[in-house]
Amino acid sequence: MCNLGVLTLLMLMATATAFRFYQDEIPNGDHVPHPCKPNYLWWGVGHANPLGGGPKNPFGQDFARYHSWTEELCRLDSDGDGMTNGQELGDPNCVWTKGNLPQESTSITHPGVCDPWGSDQCRIANQAVTCETGEFKCDGINGQDVMNITLRFPPTAVPAEETSYMCFTFELDMLEEDSEYHLIGSKPFIDNANVMHHIVITGCDATSSPLSKPELCNMAAAGCQKTLQVWTLGMPGECVYREAGFKFGKLAGITRINMQFHWTNPQKRTDYIDSSGLTLFVTKQLRRYNAAYFTTGQTHLVIPPGMPRVVKKSTCTPECTRLIMSESVHLMTGWNHMHYLGYQQNVELNRNGEKLRDLTPDDVYSYDNPIVYEYNPPVEVRPGDSLETTCVFRSTSRSTTARYGEGSFDEMCFGVFTFYPAEAMVQPSCLTWDDLDLCTFSGTSINDCDLMVFINQSHPERQRLFSKVLDNCNAYGGCRSECPAALAEVRQHPCLRGRMEAYIEDIMPVVGTGLDVVKFFSALESCDCVDKPHTSTWKYPVSGAGGHTAVVSISILLAAFTMMLP
Ligand SMILES: *[C@@H]1O[C@H](CO)[C@@H](O)[C@H](O)[C@H]1NC(C)=O
Ligand SMILES: *[C@@H]1O[C@H](CO)[C@@H](O)[C@H](O)[C@H]1NC(C)=O
Repeated sequence: MCNLGVLTLLMLMATATAFRFYQDEIPNGDHVPHPCKPNYLWWGVGHANPLGGGPKNPFGQDFARYHSWTEELCRLDSDGDGMTNGQELGDPNCVWTKGNLPQESTSITHPGVCDPWGSDQCRIANQAVTCETGEFKCDGINGQDVMNITLRFPPTAVPAEETSYMCFTFELDMLEEDSEYHLIGSKPFIDNANVMHHIVITGCDATSSPLSKPELCNMAAAGCQKTLQVWTLGMPGECVYREAGFKFGKLAGITRINMQFHWTNPQKRTDYIDSSGLTLFVTKQLRRYNAAYFTTGQTHLVIPPGMPRVVKKSTCTPECTRLIMSESVHLMTGWNHMHYLGYQQNVELNRNGEKLRDLTPDDVYSYDNPIVYEYNPPVEVRPGDSLETTCVFRSTSRSTTARYGEGSFDEMCFGVFTFYPAEAMVQPSCLTWDDLDLCTFSGTSINDCDLMVFINQSHPERQRLFSKVLDNCNAYGGCRSECPAALAEVRQHPCLRGRMEAYIEDIMPVVGTGLDVVKFFSALESCDCVDKPHTSTWKYPVSGAGGHTAVVSISILLAAFTMMLP
C-alpha cells in the first residue's frame, strides 16, 4: 500500500469517475462483479478506448451512441457471449428506467466481458481484462536486519453465512525473549480469494487466553487489543513510514498474536476452505518512533433505501482531541472505510476553526479498492485540532434500510490512520454516535454513564430505574398520568440524560438484553408525542444474555476501541 503514487491515483480517479457516471445509467450499474477478482466490483474501462477512435462505454461500444440505457442497448449482446446486455444486468425484458430497481439484482455479469470466464471461446475476447491485484513494494523490508514471519490459519471451513468473523491465535516463540523489535510491514497471503475480505492482527501477552483452533469471534477479540496490522481487500500490503514501527516482542508485551478474518460468503456456499494469513516484517534495529492506529467516525447510521445521496458527518471535537492526546501526533497513512453503499468520503483536519487540509479526499470511494493516503512528511495533529469525517452513501440498489453494523451489508463510516508516537494518544479512537461524543469512554463508562447499569441485571441502580419506569408507565399502550413525573426523574440519570437515552437504546440490542429492556424503553416513550419518529429499531432478535456475552459485546458495540476495520 505504499506504492499508490499520485499517478496511479489520478488514473484510478479518471476511470472510476467515468464509470461512476455510467453506473446510474444502467441497471445494477453499481454492483457488477469483477469477472476474475472475487469480491471486487468491476469499475469498467471508463471512456478510454484502447483501440483508438472515439470514446467507448464500459461495454466497449461507441459512447456517443450508447450513453444511456435504451431498449436497443439492452437487446444487444455487446460482448458476443450469447447473453443480451439486459440479461447480464438483471433487466431481461428491457423495461428498466433510470432511478428504479431492476427486475433482478442477483447473478449480474458484465456486459462487456465474455462469459463464462475462462472458457475456450472467451479466452481471446477477454485478453485485455487484468486479474492482477497491486504489487507490494516496500524499501524498508529489504534490509539485512529484517526477518519475516508468516502466520497462516490452518485450513478451515468457511461458515455458510454472508459474514463471519473468525479468530485464531499464534505464539511468537520464534522471537528472542530479551530483544526489542519493530514491526515495519506486512503482506497478505490470500488462500481463498472468494471469501477473504479483511485481516486484522492484534497483539497481547501470555495472560490472554489462546485459541487452540480457529473460532468464530466478534470484531474485538477480548484480551488481545493492540492493533498491529490491517489488510483489507484491494491493499497489496502495509509498509510503515521509515521512521516508525509497531512495538513487537516480549519486551513490548506482545508474545501472542490474534489474527482475525472477516470472511464474506454471500452465496452461503458450504464447500469453501480457507488458509489465508499474513507475512510480517520485523527488525531489531529499532526506528525512532513507535507507531499505532487511530480511528475516527460515526457509529450511528440509518440509510434509507433508494437514495442517490445520503450524507453523514462526525466531528472529533477540539475537546476530544485534547482529552485523548497528550501531545501532537504525526499521521503517516490514512484511509476511509465504509461498506458497499459508500460513495465518497473525506476526513478534514481543522485548527482554530479553520480548515488546514483534507486527509482522505476520496471523490470516488470504492470498498474493494481503498486509496491509502501516505503523508510524506507526516501530518501533524495537535491537541485542540478537530477532525471532521464526511461519508456519502448511495442506496439506489437497496430495497431495505442499511444501518451501522459489522456485516458487509451493514454500513460504516470511519477514517483510519497510522500515527506516531504511539505514546501521545491515550485512547486510539475518537468516535461519535450521531452528535454525541464517545471520546469520554473509559472502562465501561461513557459521559458519566456506567454501561454496567444496563448490562448487569442485578445492578441495584438498574433495578431502581427499571421499577420507577415500569411501575408508573405503560410498556404497551397509552400515557399514564403518573408517568411524566417518573420519566422526568429517571431522565436525570447520566445514562438517560439528553442524547444518552437514544444512544443506550440503540446499543442495547447489540449486547443482547432481555424482554424487560424492550419494555423499559417502550415505557420510556409512552408519553412522547404520537408523531415523534422512532429513532431506533430493534435490529437484532432480543434474547436473554448471560453476563459473559454482555461483557464481551460491550467492547464490540463501543466499536472501534480496538476495531480498525470492521
Ligand atoms: C522471508 O525470508 C526468507 C529468508 O530470508 C526469504 O527467502 C523469503 O523470500 C522471505 N519471504 C518473503 C515473503 O519476503
Ligand atoms: C452486577 O451487580 C452486582 C450488584 O451490584 C455486583 O455484585 C456484580 O459484581 C455485578 N456484576 C458485574 C459483572 O459487574
